[in-house]
Amino acid sequence: MTDPKNTQVHELIPEQLIRQRVSELARQISADYAGRELLVVGILKGSWVFLADLVRQLTVPVVIDFMTVSSYGASTKTSGVVKIVLDLKCPLENRDVLVVEDILDSGLTLAYLFKTLRLRRPRSLKLCVLLDKPVRRQVEVTPDYLGFEVPDKFVVGYGADWAERFRNLPYVGYVDPPENK
Ligand code: IMP
Ligand code: MG
Repeated sequence: MTDPKNTQVHELIPEQLIRQRVSELARQISADYAGRELLVVGILKGSWVFLADLVRQLTVPVVIDFMTVSSYGASTKTSGVVKIVLDLKCPLENRDVLVVEDILDSGLTLAYLFKTLRLRRPRSLKLCVLLDKPVRRQVEVTPDYLGFEVPDKFVVGYGADWAERFRNLPYVGYVDPPENK
């Protein structure tokens, strides 16, 4: 793998555009859940920047919990194996649950996760994703709320990482490690 320290990031979605879109999503979610309390489930680590900006603009009462699933190691390729590394603290039964994730790629992670979470009998279960790479899909997963569609590139920033680097970039960009594609 190329050294992340020497890797150039090409800007794809500027900070200002992300800010606008996150506000629109927050307005839409607040309207859809008006009069209800929302349990926001962030998938660590990729979702935390997006989630932090999103929840601060919601106007409905919100409870926030996190879980960690692993489908990738330090590599950029999916292993197809999804493991719950850290589970939620909150029970989901009879709650309106919104899962927040950074990137929808093959869909394997979220398909597995939704199957598991449905067994806990939430009143409703929806998905909010910042970035979608539809051409990469291997199983059917459709976000209820989507920030942006992105091309088949390895994207980083605004929470998304490459080997744990670049999560703190305020914009979304892509890196080109050709050996990983
Ligand atoms: P999926 O199971 O293939 O849909 O993979 C979803 C997870 O893989 C996302 O939550 C990301 O954490 C990670 N991932 C997929 N594509 C990228 C990418 O382009 N950059 C960084 N992480 C990615
Ligand atoms: Mg992730």
